[in-house]
Amino acid sequence: MQKQKACPPQVAKQVGREKVCVLGLGYVGFPLAIQCAAKGYAVFGYDKDEKKLACIEKGENIVDEKYLEALLPKTKINIIRDEKEMGQCDIFIIAVPTPVDEKYYPDLGFVEAASRTVAENMKSGALVVVESTINPGVCEEVVRPIFEKAGWKVGETVFISHCPERINPGDPKWNVTNIPRVVGSFDEEGLEKSVKFYESILDGQVMPMKTIREAEAAKIIENSFRDVNIAFVNELAKSFDLMGIDIVNVIKGASTKPFAFMPHWPSRGVGGHCIPVDPYYLIEKAKENDFDHKFLRSARAINNSMPAYTVEVLQEMLNQIEKSIKGTHIGVLGVSYKANVGDLRESPALKVIEILEKHGAKLHIFDPYLPEHSNMKNIEEMLEKSESVVLLTDHSDFLKIKPEQYKEKNIQVILDGMNCLDKEAFLKAGLIFKGIGR
Ligand SMILES: NC(=O)c1ccc[n+]([C@@H]2O[C@H](COP(=O)([O-])OP(=O)(O)OC[C@H]3O[C@@H](n4cnc5c(N)ncnc54)[C@H](O)[C@@H]3O)[C@@H](O)[C@H]2O)c1
Repeated sequence: MQKQKACPPQVAKQVGREKVCVLGLGYVGFPLAIQCAAKGYAVFGYDKDEKKLACIEKGENIVDEKYLEALLPKTKINIIRDEKEMGQCDIFIIAVPTPVDEKYYPDLGFVEAASRTVAENMKSGALVVVESTINPGVCEEVVRPIFEKAGWKVGETVFISHCPERINPGDPKWNVTNIPRVVGSFDEEGLEKSVKFYESILDGQVMPMKTIREAEAAKIIENSFRDVNIAFVNELAKSFDLMGIDIVNVIKGASTKPFAFMPHWPSRGVGGHCIPVDPYYLIEKAKENDFDHKFLRSARAINNSMPAYTVEVLQEMLNQIEKSIKGTHIGVLGVSYKANVGDLRESPALKVIEILEKHGAKLHIFDPYLPEHSNMKNIEEMLEKSESVVLLTDHSDFLKIKPEQYKEKNIQVILDGMNCLDKEAFLKAGLIFKGIGR
């Protein structure tokens, strides 16, 4: 008999016969489902998006994360289309979206719907973990009543916990396998079950929180921390632009302090499903107690103002060659909200594009990760057609374009909306070049 090969470190032996059902197979739910399967759980997946389900059934890496590639051929997500099949599962993970509406008001509709689906189809004794980002109080005021209305007793026939997801798509070091977690529950047994489950699938630390509200609040403050710090440097960028100080050099200098300083970088604005969204969940919740989160509101307003500021800077640069935005052929490098992924959610680039279009610019847009949102086939075509260029996403391919390539195409103005290009090289080449705050 052939000797069995040792399992790679990610793929553990069977850890138990519990069946895990993940509701919402997106950036959060999909890697988590794969990770549970890799650690020996029988995994079931449920999503409302039929196209996504078909791709998962074909074994596709739907979130394009490199570390998943080795795990995909060795794991299986059993797709559930008939909700009744959920009755066989022991652990449910809710990883559905928690967006805001056009007035920035939290939309908990997806969490409510997924909770109802579980409550109506689960068996007695199941553990339900909400991983979606929610404000303090959602498990108590929204999720728990759904289960109670369906006849379940929290702490007896259902155990409800919150373990906020911290995944950072595209991060080469931190992923679902090694990011430490916090977890909170309504009762001791729920907490114990949840900690045991997460310890069985993760290599990172799992920290039990005293209350479920503290777990909810931990996630919201993590992302609000990012938002206010980015708002601070974005405000500095505007101020330093007027003073002629290069903010990037200043932050690099300040970062040499080995304690009590953490660099954040200014840009054309903040995007993604988390940072520009989550602070609103706290802002709105606090209003119920007549508390005004002035600081968070101010940070949101500053970060929301950055796309318009980017266009203002571009207008000033075009003035130097006696051009206006109206009628000028402007190349746009990048639409997605972050480097090397095709994620459009809350992307500030969309806002910049919208403002430029309103001002009558002739746009030539290219994003290698979002061909359906590009009207150019490649960088060469974009360079060929443009008179000036604004970089809105720091995709690796864009960093390789040399100043000479712009010059060869008679492009005089380059605005680096991500502060990722070599300013000195562009200025030395005789180009009109600016970043945000530099
Ligand atoms: N993307 C991130 O980087 C990230 C990081 C940490 C936390 N989060 C949080 O995790 C949650 C999920 O985010 P995401 O980025 O994975 O979203 P996503 O949009 O990528 O995936 C969510 C999935 O849920 C599905 N869905 C919607 N309603 C459903 C329902 N009733 N039942 C089953 N599936 C349903 C959608 O079709 C979608 O496939 C959000 O609360 C988000 O704030 C996201």
